[in-house]
Amino acid sequence: MAVDSLRAHLIEELTDLLDAENQLTRALPKMAAASSTTALKQAFQQHLKETRGHIIRLNSALRLLDEEPSRKTCEAMEGLLAEGEEMMKKASEGALRDAVMITAAQKVEHYEMATYGTVRTYAEVLGESGVARLLQATLREEKAADSKLTAIAQRSVNKRAAEEWRTRKSADGNESGVVERSAEWMGRLVGSASRRFAGTTKRAAESIGVAQDRAARRAAGRKRTTKRGRSARKHRR
Ligand SMILES: [Fe+2]
Repeated sequence: MAVDSLRAHLIEELTDLLDAENQLTRALPKMAAASSTTALKQAFQQHLKETRGHIIRLNSALRLLDEEPSRKTCEAMEGLLAEGEEMMKKASEGALRDAVMITAAQKVEHYEMATYGTVRTYAEVLGESGVARLLQATLREEKAADSKLTAIAQRSVNKRAAEEWRTRKSADGNESGVVERSAEWMGRLVGSASRRFAGTTKRAAESIGVAQDRAARRAAGRKRTTKRGRSARKHRR
């Protein structure tokens, strides 16, 4: 459909939103299942119900405009959800993954809020007050869902995710501390062993020297005795 008027643009945006909401109904159950915080799980489940209502409202709005819903892929929502899923896979289970899902969900909510606010205003200026009312009702729910996510993040998830990080950091610190202390102890052990070995070697060398001196002195003594014996025998002849 060619976009040659504000009305045509409004219809195109509503069709885009319809696909965005349908994509979201497939993503929200996965997000609820992956949540470790009860309040977050409930928020995703509640927003899934609301999202089904948003689809009903969008179909009603298109009917009021005498338009049949056509197929269109919302590439922005596709990208936001793909990015969110990728981030979820990389995060470890627990408060960190909850925080990551809140990040992704709030990006989605803000995209929807921007679009619903815009199309509501187009409907108003085009004199489509019934359509504007439907879109305003959805916009209110998107804003409430976003505020709820902010509250959950600020009241519990962010603090728990930061706590998880601090606990892991101090556990890693203790582990490397053990390695350092072991290396220090090994160093001291090797040092004292080598000092003991050097002492033993020195003492052994000294005793060898003393023994060699004694042997040399004994040999010299024997030599002198033999010489004196030979000269005595010579004089007796
Ligand atoms: Fe929605």
